[in-house]
Amino acid sequence: MVKNYSKKIIGISSGKGGVGKTTFSINLSSALYKLGVPNVIVDGDISNANLSVQLGFKHNIPTIQDLMEENLNPRYAIRIHSTGLRILPAAISLDRGDVDLKRIKKYLIPLQETLIIDFPPGVAKNTVDLMRACDELIILTTPEVASLTDSLKTLDLARKYKKPIKGIVVNRAVKDKYELSIDELQIMCETKLLGVIPEDKNVRRANFECMPYVFRYPNSRAAIETMRIASGLLSKPYCEPKLNFLKSFFN
Ligand SMILES: Nc1ncnc2c1ncn2[C@@H]1O[C@H](COP(=O)(O)OP(=O)(O)O)[C@@H](O)[C@H]1O
Ligand SMILES: [Mg+2]
Repeated sequence: MVKNYSKKIIGISSGKGGVGKTTFSINLSSALYKLGVPNVIVDGDISNANLSVQLGFKHNIPTIQDLMEENLNPRYAIRIHSTGLRILPAAISLDRGDVDLKRIKKYLIPLQETLIIDFPPGVAKNTVDLMRACDELIILTTPEVASLTDSLKTLDLARKYKKPIKGIVVNRAVKDKYELSIDELQIMCETKLLGVIPEDKNVRRANFECMPYVFRYPNSRAAIETMRIASGLLSKPYCEPKLNFLKSFFN
């Protein structure tokens, strides 16, 4: 266990869909776990749930919807991945997306540990309800103008509800001339930059294998940046694995 780290509910939000929230939630959870912080990932994207699918779980009940409808203890719904990660899945069927998330915090509190909530995209009601349940937020964006513009709305919403924003994470950075520079991104967001995760084929490879890249490809650039972000959240310095530069060629 990490000293002086208090349990928190951390929301992973974004303006746009497809920017990597679910992938980042899984891998931030993995990185925190590796650093000694037990945690549970909660699928908050109840209308388009795919956290459990992305980790290869076939048996998908009970879910968050069942917890809330039947007043169950959340521990009954936790699934454990082969890596040790723990998740609270949402139902994947079309007709279960209309649960009111207003009271979700009440159902999560019995877990008594750090929770990472994978948000739906955008600023609709479910996002607001989840934001209210969180202690702090991380906003994910890609370095493109459209993604950033939508993330600015999410940032505004968080400020409106006085939710502490831990910072932004830029994902899928290629660093070519079609992207905003890191300086531009930071100036426009007016918030701390927690890290920049590059576009990395190991991310899609690991997702295909239903594995977190932080476990499956620990020497990949994406894994190293995610470990660095998680260490930063714990106020710990991060030491990159030795000879990593060479190893990354073989990943
Ligand atoms: N850093 C990255 N490098 C390459 N592909 C990525 C990266 N991050 C996410 N992806 C890919 O982007 C797609 C969308 O990711 P996902 O986590 O489902 O986004 P969201 O939850 O925001 O909709 C997936 O195919 C995933 O493998
Ligand atoms: Mg998602």
